[in-house]
Amino acid sequence: MKQIVIINGPNLNLIGTREPTIYGSEVLDDYLKELASLYPEFNLIYRQSNVEGEIINWLHEFGFSAAGIVINPGAYAHTSVAIADALRAISTPAIEVHISNVSAREVYRHTLLTGAACVGIISGLGLKGYRIAVSYFTEG
Ligand code: DQA
Repeated sequence: MKQIVIINGPNLNLIGTREPTIYGSEVLDDYLKELASLYPEFNLIYRQSNVEGEIINWLHEFGFSAAGIVINPGAYAHTSVAIADALRAISTPAIEVHISNVSAREVYRHTLLTGAACVGIISGLGLKGYRIAVSYFTEG
């Protein structure tokens, strides 16, 4: 069964209660569980960490065997050369997702170091962005 891996970075475990005017009040964990049930023919794997190195280790672990990676690096998108390097080092294509429209927010969120190492970026479509990214891989 083909694997699609969703990797969420720091503070995304709090989506549902964190700044609901920006990120909405739906619990991300619940949304992703439901998302997995829509694709029974794929093995949807979900990981979240607030630790940069852990995210890099998962990219190494899944990045040579999975069919696709959907990554929301949170604030690390704007700062992490190490995660960007890991995305470039692996062979599995990755799509970066941001729940909010980072281009419409503070200037420091406009730089997407990790997004530049992905095949594409989805930003501002809320939690639905994850579904759109997953469908890119499931529809081939
Ligand atoms: C975010 C946008 C980032 O700028 C922010 O640091 C996050 C969430 C998003 O999904 O909109 O933690 O990645």
